[in-house]
Amino acid sequence: MNHARTAARLTLDWQHADRAATLREHTRRYGPLQRQASGTRDLLDEVAAARLTGRGGAGFPTATKIRAVAGRRGPAVVVANGMESEPASEKDQALLARAPHLVLDGISVAAEAVGASAAHLCLPRTRDWLTECVLAAVTERQRAGLDRIGVAVHELPHHYVSSEETSLVHWLNGGDAKPTTTPPRPFERGVGKRPTLIDNVETLAHLALIARYGAAWFREAGTSEATGTMLTTVTGAVSRPGVYEVEAGTSVGDVLALASLQAGAEAVLIGGYFGTWHDIAAVAGRPFTAAGLRPAGASPGAGVLFVLPAEACGLVEAARIMRFLASQGAEQCGPCIFGLPAIADDLAQLAAGRPEGDPLSRMQRRFGVISGRGACRHPDGAVRMAASAVRTFGADARAHAQRRPCLAARRGRRHGWQQTAVLPVPRPFAEGEWR
Ligand SMILES: Cc1cc2nc3c(=O)[nH]c(=O)nc-3n(C[C@H](O)[C@H](O)[C@H](O)COP(=O)(O)O)c2cc1C
Ligand code: SF4
Repeated sequence: MNHARTAARLTLDWQHADRAATLREHTRRYGPLQRQASGTRDLLDEVAAARLTGRGGAGFPTATKIRAVAGRRGPAVVVANGMESEPASEKDQALLARAPHLVLDGISVAAEAVGASAAHLCLPRTRDWLTECVLAAVTERQRAGLDRIGVAVHELPHHYVSSEETSLVHWLNGGDAKPTTTPPRPFERGVGKRPTLIDNVETLAHLALIARYGAAWFREAGTSEATGTMLTTVTGAVSRPGVYEVEAGTSVGDVLALASLQAGAEAVLIGGYFGTWHDIAAVAGRPFTAAGLRPAGASPGAGVLFVLPAEACGLVEAARIMRFLASQGAEQCGPCIFGLPAIADDLAQLAAGRPEGDPLSRMQRRFGVISGRGACRHPDGAVRMAASAVRTFGADARAHAQRRPCLAARRGRRHGWQQTAVLPVPRPFAEGEWR
């Protein structure tokens, strides 16, 4: 039986829509943006009481970030992160394509809360259809005279690390879309050297609803530990892949059941390409939240679940992800220049069943020395994914290390299945284009 608690808040009326809601439709759906909480202090209190956390991956408390920016001197800047560089995630593009005004409302609310004099929305250069859709919504609002400050929409290079918050700031300041060392963090000194609030577009959409309906309403969904709803992207060996809005605290098994898990599937990648591989049976009963997954060494990241099909080899998929991640570093720090490509080579040897020497031991050694050594968290995320693959597909790794077929290959032979690559790995963006 499926116990998933779905809740149409952000997705109200659009799960089956194939276009963006107009401003009139949006206002009919949610009502006008007359804040229940009036004034910056009230709004901040509401966001804190709602216990909203960021939906961009790290799950940081949104009120704490707003407070940090609002507490600095001088006009602030708001940046909405709509880059969604995670290849296994589709939630941000789905949200922006169906409910752009909800995100734009959220930017307006955030701008009020921090006293911003400028607002930016960052999108990837590879999705011009999305930019068009968002620009149409921005124009509608300008005509209606809705927002105190306008939102500048930008298209950035689409590398995996270009969506990290310091990359956005660096690009908006005229540099390359590459991470920079911190401190200073964007809240201290960001765009134009001003205090800058950077939030994921889903986070901002929740903010728009909290401003309308209040903290108590927000907390009606979810649990005491994880409040509200969250967008999840479920793909792979499921019969109904897609973006689902579920109450925070719904178990992994129930989210998978919503998308109709296919028979025979045994492993799942949780949290995306920076995430971790697990046996489904070991995590199915766990809440799909940071606290719920922590004991299993996992994190929901940006709400991603990818189910490995029974006929696919987890090591092959992990090797493909690793090769992609190794190609996505900004080549500024040692771990990205030397460490990740070396792990990608070893994992590829193992996946192909053609080991030279002992790739398993070489990888284990490197896992231990790379984490925490980069200027940003890119190497840590890549190492976490690779290490979890070696752990979860341990029997397969040992079989491949001895040039024997893994479980998926044996199954494939038995059933006459073709083994094909399944995870989306984007082609590298135009070589070297970071600006
Ligand atoms: C390599 C890397 C890639 C990231 N990509 C994204 C992204 O595509 N979208 C996003 O919202 N946050 C991304 N983040 C997280 C952002 O740096 C930032 O924490 C987030 O936008 C803050 O929003 P939130 O508090 O609403 O989650 C990424 C972080 C890292 C380390
Ligand atoms: S760790 Fe890698 S991605 Fe991060 S700043 Fe250094 S080179 Fe760039």
